Amino acid sequence: MPVINATLANNAITLNVAAGSPLASVGSAALVQASNTNVLVARVAQDTFNAMTAVCTHEACTVTRFASGTFQCPCHGSEYNTNGGVTKGPAPSSLRRFNTQLAGDVLTISL
Ligand code: FES
Repeated sequence: MPVINATLANNAITLNVAAGSPLASVGSAALVQASNTNVLVARVAQDTFNAMTAVCTHEACTVTRFASGTFQCPCHGSEYNTNGGVTKGPAPSSLRRFNTQLAGDVLTISL
């Protein structure tokens, strides 16, 4: 899936999601990297973004794939929906979610 490099400050990641961003359209998703933190972000509605850790709950690989609305771990094939819930094992539990806030075109993810 597309990778977005963002900035991390005061335990929050900020990024622009305007036209041209991989997250510009509803149904898109991206792997957001800031410092050494990896976060999955899905745009589930025009003004609604779901953010969650990209660290797989199985053996901590980074989830890097997104297809047909599903996040996929490259290591052993676990799959998660855009809410972070497990849809296919071996992952034992959901991805931890982060709060998001949209102000204009700037998305803030609180870690
Ligand atoms: S670490 Fe993700 S499926 Fe094993």
